[in-house]
Amino acid sequence: MSKFHYPDLQVCVLAAGRGKRMRSNLPKVLHKVLGRAMIDHILHTVESLRPKGIAVVTGHASEMVRAHVGQPVNLEWVIQDKQLGTGHAVKQCEQVICDVRDVLIVCGDTPLLQVETLDKLVREHRQAAADVTVLTANPANPFGYGRIVRDGDGRLSSIVEEKDASESERAITEVSSGIYCVRYEVLFDLLHAIGNRNAQGEYYLPDIVPLALDAGQRVEAVMMADADEMLGVNDRVHLAHVEDVMQKKIIEEWQRRGVTVEKPDTVRIEAGVSIGIDTVIQAGCYLIGSTTIGDECRIGPNAVLVDAWLDDRVNVYAFSHIQGAAVGSDSLVGPYARLRPEARLDEHVHIGNFVEIKKSVVGDGSKVNHLSYIGDSTIGTNCNIGAGTITCNYDGANKFVTEIGDNVFVGSDTQLVAPVRVGSDATIGAGSTITSDVPDGGLTLSERNAQKYVPGWKRPQKDKP
Ligand code: UD1
Ligand code: MG
Repeated sequence: MSKFHYPDLQVCVLAAGRGKRMRSNLPKVLHKVLGRAMIDHILHTVESLRPKGIAVVTGHASEMVRAHVGQPVNLEWVIQDKQLGTGHAVKQCEQVICDVRDVLIVCGDTPLLQVETLDKLVREHRQAAADVTVLTANPANPFGYGRIVRDGDGRLSSIVEEKDASESERAITEVSSGIYCVRYEVLFDLLHAIGNRNAQGEYYLPDIVPLALDAGQRVEAVMMADADEMLGVNDRVHLAHVEDVMQKKIIEEWQRRGVTVEKPDTVRIEAGVSIGIDTVIQAGCYLIGSTTIGDECRIGPNAVLVDAWLDDRVNVYAFSHIQGAAVGSDSLVGPYARLRPEARLDEHVHIGNFVEIKKSVVGDGSKVNHLSYIGDSTIGTNCNIGAGTITCNYDGANKFVTEIGDNVFVGSDTQLVAPVRVGSDATIGAGSTITSDVPDGGLTLSERNAQKYVPGWKRPQKDKP
């Protein structure tokens, strides 16, 4: 549970813009940054404030955005049919907001924003008893942002958009983050008063600043400590840049929590991943989706884990691919192994090179070390599945199950034609094709051709010139 709590705060998320510059069939806020859609990043951040409610303004492809987010209890959807500007967008929320002290307005395309920064904005807004407070920043490159214009006493007087700015205004480096905290009592009167006489013919939210000042209201600016947090995504170059910034932060956070990350610039660790202490992530690893890794594991180099679950002390060697699978403690996987969805390895399991496991359980202490396919199977404890063993689970139309008991030894190059059961303590001779159930214990092997010896036989020789 988040430590923040603002039961008298309403949040508005502006996400109706088309995101034309993304050149995409997908609405901008559904583009992912480190595996999570931008709208989910911002919703996660504002939900951490535990506000009274969250209104999300959508317009372009609103059905897709709604279908993606679902219907959290404290979230209201607001439609802006025509995208007439940020001020017009906030105005559409009038019907869904009541009985709050302040309204916090954020944009849907700033996934780096941190909850602590929003908390600071609301706290300072309230301490100053302000009517309107703007969150500002000093980015390395102010191009494209609204500039913060101050009067002779250094007090905020207006915000001028890039397209409306004079040369001297463009030289200002302090910019608006587009994030505001506004007293509910004054917000909608201000919004009704703004016009659209500007370079873009839009109703600009920033215009509430001079209107509030004219009405004798108190307007404040709060500067962000880290300007990176307000980086907005308008095209795919920004998307990659924002992802880089977020990746650095996420990796540093894991390093501080006790994870060793070798060659961090080559590693991808998505936002939904979690990693235990003393785990080592080697170069080139991709940790994707909801992947969860325990303590003291060693991963890589160049392993890919997608929605994988690993218990403690698991080693995943180079070039292994694990997706939707679970690995018990003290197990070894790879190099060059593939665990597919619903593979479950219990403890102390060894899966070696060029082994593929799909929708199967491998019991404690069992080994499948070389060149095998195990699908739709259960393998008991302490089994040794020899090199080149294949479970033939598919007849071209249907899938069938292979069940193997405990302490079974399967000789190399065996085919287990499912459906088939192998009893505990059984041994299967190398090269067998097993088509019916194997009893407990003893040796089972399919008939072999007699071995021949041809004495004095010579291999063909190349003709000598
Ligand atoms: C806006 C601000 C600018 C600030 C910058 C910070 C205005 C006029 N300008 O510029 O001062 O420096 O953000 O990133 O506010 N949206 C709607 N409906 C609309 C228009 C926009 O919902 O009719 C949403 C967009 O989806 C987006 C957000 O509002 O999430 C900001 O709009 P955008 O067009 O990106 O504004 P900027 O030009 O970035
Ligand atoms: Mg923008």
